[in-house]
Amino acid sequence: MNNQLKTNNNSRIDEYLKILTLHKIADIYRVESDKAAKTKLSYTDYLLKLLEEQVLTKIERSINRKMQIAAFPQIKRLEEFDFSFQPQIEEKVIRELANLNFLEDGKNVLFLGPPGVGKTHLAIALGIKAIEQRKRVLFYSAEKLTEELAAAEVSGMLNAKLESLSRLDLLIIDELGYLTLSNQTAKLFFQLVSKRYEKGSIIVTSNKSFEDWGEIFNDEVVASAILDRMLHHSYPFFINGKSFRLKNMSKSD
Ligand SMILES: Nc1ncnc2c1ncn2[C@@H]1O[C@H](COP(=O)(O)OP(=O)(O)OP(=O)(O)O)[C@@H](O)[C@H]1O
Ligand SMILES: [Mg+2]
Repeated sequence: MNNQLKTNNNSRIDEYLKILTLHKIADIYRVESDKAAKTKLSYTDYLLKLLEEQVLTKIERSINRKMQIAAFPQIKRLEEFDFSFQPQIEEKVIRELANLNFLEDGKNVLFLGPPGVGKTHLAIALGIKAIEQRKRVLFYSAEKLTEELAAAEVSGMLNAKLESLSRLDLLIIDELGYLTLSNQTAKLFFQLVSKRYEKGSIIVTSNKSFEDWGEIFNDEVVASAILDRMLHHSYPFFINGKSFRLKNMSKSD
């Protein structure tokens, strides 16, 4: 093809790809078409290659966006979790959870135990697995969640807030129990749990055993109503092992 014609064609292709917002293809099609000519790739294989790259970019962007929305405090992956350090946690069960069937069934996961045993790590890791399957996930500390619920109630937006939280595929509530809730916020928390009950999964981490949940919610009746719903379809993990934080400290000493 003469050079002038090729340049004209390329600038029209660039324009069309821009209109169609196929930016990835715009970036790579020249190099790929030279490669295809050299390796005698068929027209369909060449087209397939371009479309695959564009689709991969789209998926990657959507995952990145969902990761930002989820607002994880850190990135913690299942692959980084050392199960041999915490033998109480059944690796097989966690790996099954990572297949995300629990989300389809609206089941909950509870990680209970003292500081540093990996509760938040596992909650985030399952959240990331869910996002990789294009699920909508939000991570909250119990404190921030209850503050937002209380603020929504004050501004008359509680129903809208509960609605939006109930539309998520997975809600992660971290550090339940480090702070005691007021009677009012405990009731808001109950409304949230009721709304998601049997519809959408919640992962909760807590340093308090179930007997002490009355203390968290400042009310035995509300606490048992919340526990009842949370536990009905759930995977509770009781982790009593050593703190991973202290292990790392003694290593560097
Ligand atoms: N078994 C493990 N393998 C690898 N890293 C771990 C493991 N357990 C914990 N960690 C790491 O140790 C640190 C503390 O873990 P994590 O934050 O999950 O603790 P936690 O149980 O949520 O504690 P807290 O109740 O204080 O919030 C994190 O950096 C986490 O990635
Ligand atoms: Mg934690």
